[in-house]
Amino acid sequence: MYVVLNGKFKEQKKAVIPVTDNGFLYGDAVYETMRTKDGDVWLFGKHIKRLKKSAKAVGIKIPYTTKEIRRMIETLIEKNKSKEVRIRITLSRGSHGLDFGPVKKPTFLVQTKPIVLPPETLYETGVSVVTYTIERPMPKVKSTSMLPTIAAYRYARKKNAFEAVLVDHRGRISECSMSNIFFVRKGKLITPKHNVLEGTVRNLVIKQGKAKRTTIKKRDLPKMEECFITSTIKGVLPVTNINGKCVGDGNVGPITKNLMKIV
Ligand SMILES: Cc1ncc(COP(=O)(O)O)c(C=O)c1O
Repeated sequence: MYVVLNGKFKEQKKAVIPVTDNGFLYGDAVYETMRTKDGDVWLFGKHIKRLKKSAKAVGIKIPYTTKEIRRMIETLIEKNKSKEVRIRITLSRGSHGLDFGPVKKPTFLVQTKPIVLPPETLYETGVSVVTYTIERPMPKVKSTSMLPTIAAYRYARKKNAFEAVLVDHRGRISECSMSNIFFVRKGKLITPKHNVLEGTVRNLVIKQGKAKRTTIKKRDLPKMEECFITSTIKGVLPVTNINGKCVGDGNVGPITKNLMKIV
């Protein structure tokens, strides 16, 4: 398996990052996860746009053009000879110490691995989720500082749930540990507007489903008629149980079924 580290193709086993890298020492890095669909990088432009936004927010300059990044990914896919892949770009401030100022030599890593999608049956039955009170710092930035995410995900696993729904300290739902979330209430599609990573699939669904961004409180969950989560890897995945209680009648609802077809 090959990776691209700072523009050079290397065997993953031989690709090394210094122990002084800020990404390792301080979680001082941003990233993107993409996937291929029928061999093409899905929503590539949208992912690069978000990577640029994340990088700008934390003051790290992306050292390559969009064209160069696309070429790196395409060559890497060819070299790794996988059919459908998950692609990850990680950009750290490099070895920069506690200065955190303008970046001289960022670390830029591209990895691919064969994609593992959620089992097909989950799209028929829906998944269970649990709520967890925690806030992601700088929620609009896709950063490797993931301890809150990890705490939420570990809690979900402990409860045998597929995902954790993040709730802020005012009782508002934001998103999930690694996905965005949508609900149907009174027949209308809604999604949280506060503290949300603007997911690429979320944006597609908002457009296609004419969803309204609004405040959604944890206490309103029992009133929801349908629910689903979205991400690059999961697509549109129905949720039929929240905190041990059925959503609606416990089956995948018609609005969710319709939107599952768009990804
Ligand atoms: C916190 C968080 N929210 C939402 C998403 C979904 O984003 P996308 O649809 O771009 O994969 C992710 C993806 O990993 C995420 O980590």
